[in-house]
Amino acid sequence: MLSILVINGPNLNMLGIREPGVYGTVTLAEIEARLKKLGETLGVQLHFFQSNHEGALLDEIHAAFGIHDGILINPGALTHTSYALRDGLSAVGLPAVEVHLSNIHKREAFRHISVTAPVMLGQISGFGPISYELGLHALCKHIQS
Ligand code: DQA
Repeated sequence: MLSILVINGPNLNMLGIREPGVYGTVTLAEIEARLKKLGETLGVQLHFFQSNHEGALLDEIHAAFGIHDGILINPGALTHTSYALRDGLSAVGLPAVEVHLSNIHKREAFRHISVTAPVMLGQISGFGPISYELGLHALCKHIQS
């Protein structure tokens, strides 16, 4: 059975409260519950991690090496700034997919750049919680093919 690490970065613990006009009203716990259900259908085991701290995210990514088969990640604002996260993902070399609730290309200019995307299989952006489900599908299909 595939094992996938699902990582959420800074402020994503605030989903449901945070800027509902941009991010909707679904909480992170609800997103994780939906993913868990999808994981059961796809026959993959999911492990969830959220942190507001870059170093904690990096530690979790490093610890995934040799344990998990892939990473589904919403790096939050670290998407636009964190070369450390990018290098960490690159270092472990696990297949990874980047997801965003909002369409980052339709928002402020600073969100148009993802410094993490070049080390991902791909990026899914703009479909709300469905971005995570599409990302999980894509990641599993890629690993299984
Ligand atoms: C986000 C987009 C980022 O620009 C923002 O900083 C977030 C959430 C998204 O899921 O749409 O925290 O990653």
